[in-house]
Amino acid sequence: MNLIRSISQQIWKNFGLTRFVSIKATDFKYVHGISSKDEENRLQLQAKGAEDHLWHDINLKNVVNDPNLCFLEVGCGVGAQTSALLSRLPKKTHVLGIDIDPKQIYVASKKLSEFIPERVTLKVLDITKEKFQENSLSGAYISWVFEHISYDDSVKFLRQLKTSVKKGGIIINNEIIMDPDLGMVVKDANGEVPSNVRKFLNALVDYQKTIKGDANFGLKNNMISCYKDSNITNFIYRPIEMKYPKNDLPNSISYSKSLFKSVSKSLITSGFISTKDYKNALNELDYSEEIIWNSGQILAFTDDNSSDNSFLGIRC
Ligand SMILES: C[S@@+](CC[C@H](N)C(=O)[O-])C[C@H]1O[C@@H](n2cnc3c(N)ncnc32)[C@H](O)[C@@H]1O
Repeated sequence: MNLIRSISQQIWKNFGLTRFVSIKATDFKYVHGISSKDEENRLQLQAKGAEDHLWHDINLKNVVNDPNLCFLEVGCGVGAQTSALLSRLPKKTHVLGIDIDPKQIYVASKKLSEFIPERVTLKVLDITKEKFQENSLSGAYISWVFEHISYDDSVKFLRQLKTSVKKGGIIINNEIIMDPDLGMVVKDANGEVPSNVRKFLNALVDYQKTIKGDANFGLKNNMISCYKDSNITNFIYRPIEMKYPKNDLPNSISYSKSLFKSVSKSLITSGFISTKDYKNALNELDYSEEIIWNSGQILAFTDDNSSDNSFLGIRC
């Protein structure tokens, strides 16, 4: 943590944030109730498997390159996607990674130590509470975060982001869909969604609503209304289908089991699923024949009037 705290107040101010908020991990209800090490491994696996799908046509080399601005990574977690982001930005662009969870920021500070402080600054910060200065950012990357906060808080945050990201900037946002038919689609040998996997995923969607989140935030209509309600007008929605070749099935199963494990404590202790059904779901995953991950991606541009965003190297 000393490393994080040692970052100068000046850099902190330059990046449009007014103060350091100290948040106790216990203040924050996170569906993935597992140890930091397991969550780190899960996020690393997730980022590795998803990188080609999420970034395949995104090149940020032409993002506004001003030393007074930084590129915000919202909910950076353990920094599992930060290297992918850095590699697509101009060499001089500074990334400010923020996350509500001090434990994850601590892990990220170790993982990204080679980039700190020249290219990366990390901060513990709650996006539902913090204020950002206008025109202080060149863009923002948000991956799998709005599922954890309320719709209204996502809208409030995006409204602010629209004024904080300078004209000509971009907001990239990936969000999950966990619905067993539209999101995480697991198929058995008969091409059917196994019953306990279905039960588990439905329980996850229901549970997340009780902590104000939305495990289906990535569905087209949800993301589009959220951006429209945020007064962001220049954006596109893209469905992202992560379908892996047959020989990758063992990795998909292993990641899926780590995801189920990560939320099992929250679901079982709150009574949304029984231990028996959870174990049966893990067993069904072992025998699954195909797993497809569907997500939603928004590319939003802060220049309301420009329809030509090709300068960012993105095929829309
Ligand atoms: C599923 S993880 C994704 C982490 C990272 N983006 C990645 O792809 O590896 C969601 C992250 O959002 C963070 N988060 C949730 N609510 C937040 C809030 N209100 N403010 C800041 N970060 C938040 C969590 O702590 C967690 O690290």
